[in-house]
Amino acid sequence: MIRINENFNKLKASYLFSDIANRVSEYIIKYPDKEIIKLGIGDVTRALPPACTKAFHSAVDEMSFDKSFRGYGPEQGYEFLRDKISEKDFQSRGINISPKEIFVSDGAKCDTGNIQEIFSGDIKIAIPDPVYPVYVDTNVMAGRTGKNQDGRYEGLIYLESTEQNGYVPDLPSESVDLIYLCFPNNPTGSTATKAQLLKWVGYARDHKALILFDAAYESFIRDDSLPRSIFEIEGADEVAIEFRSFSKSAGFTGTRCAFTVVPEKCRAFDSRGDVSYLHPLWLRRQSTKFNAVSYPVQRAAEAVYSDEGQKQVRELTDYYLKNASLIIEKMTGLGYSCTGGKDSPYIWIKGDRDSWKFFDLLLEKAGVVCTPGAGFGKCGENHIRISAFNSYENVQKALERIEKALQ
Ligand code: MLT
Repeated sequence: MIRINENFNKLKASYLFSDIANRVSEYIIKYPDKEIIKLGIGDVTRALPPACTKAFHSAVDEMSFDKSFRGYGPEQGYEFLRDKISEKDFQSRGINISPKEIFVSDGAKCDTGNIQEIFSGDIKIAIPDPVYPVYVDTNVMAGRTGKNQDGRYEGLIYLESTEQNGYVPDLPSESVDLIYLCFPNNPTGSTATKAQLLKWVGYARDHKALILFDAAYESFIRDDSLPRSIFEIEGADEVAIEFRSFSKSAGFTGTRCAFTVVPEKCRAFDSRGDVSYLHPLWLRRQSTKFNAVSYPVQRAAEAVYSDEGQKQVRELTDYYLKNASLIIEKMTGLGYSCTGGKDSPYIWIKGDRDSWKFFDLLLEKAGVVCTPGAGFGKCGENHIRISAFNSYENVQKALERIEKALQ
């Protein structure tokens, strides 16, 4: 008898963003003439940087001749891309990450979801609340939790991010083995200072734990004092894995390219307590289950690191940050307290009502889609997240409509 993985029954029926998409589709069926402005899921709206499309086109041309055609690529990604990432994102900033430590992939969502496969089933996991749901759901699927009780899974340690701690969670009071962190944060848009990351790295070293650091939004950091990588912290290369993405920085949400950094020194332990390095495990996992990102996409990603690519990516992220400033200005003016939006494309707004009710109100009365905070965890209740990914004109229009709806 074929049986299902019953851990899936512990999950909510659908993924947060599918849930929202369904509600929006129902709304569109009900009001076909109403124009909707989407500031919900963090999906970019502007075209790929011209440097990327140029490289993309010419790589597609290479694929149309036998002599320059390429079949399967290296599972870890082509060297031309890993060399550039290592040089421009790390070495040039004084961080010693080599091309060998970089694994090119089709998305930080997949990598942050898949990485848990290389850890034991009975580890203790600390998860921020609110949190990007992928970290939680993938561990639920893998059977590392009990049931969901009042919005929280038994067996997980929740690290509360609240107004009181500036949406940067404190260290857990008990010993944990695996810690998920994301800065600039999704969903709150908060950022962590070097001093704060130093504490986490110290904790991981003291407790023989590991940090999974999601830095998918680092390209939005404008405050030079903020760390862009956990590897700016001394000793982090032994206790952290970092996830990066071209999705939000260079508009690759539909094109798909990202990378994960697993330093060669990064360690975990076996059941005897002996050190076991994670780099060969992740390489083994990826080479078994993943066949690399397509050649033209990797060439397009490489172009991000050209001089013109760097300029264009900066313009692109500046554009969304300008939207973010407008959202903060308007929502603050309306009396709401806002976090994020300065070094992040997300604005976390403390509402005055249940977050799904707030979502429904904005959809029904303003035709604006946001993300209800409760979808990210218990501490997200009474909050909504507004994303800055849309045109400036649409953001302006959405804010005018929100103002009217809230009067
Ligand atoms: C979000 O809206 O939280 C992100 O777009 C999700 C993602 O990148 O998968």
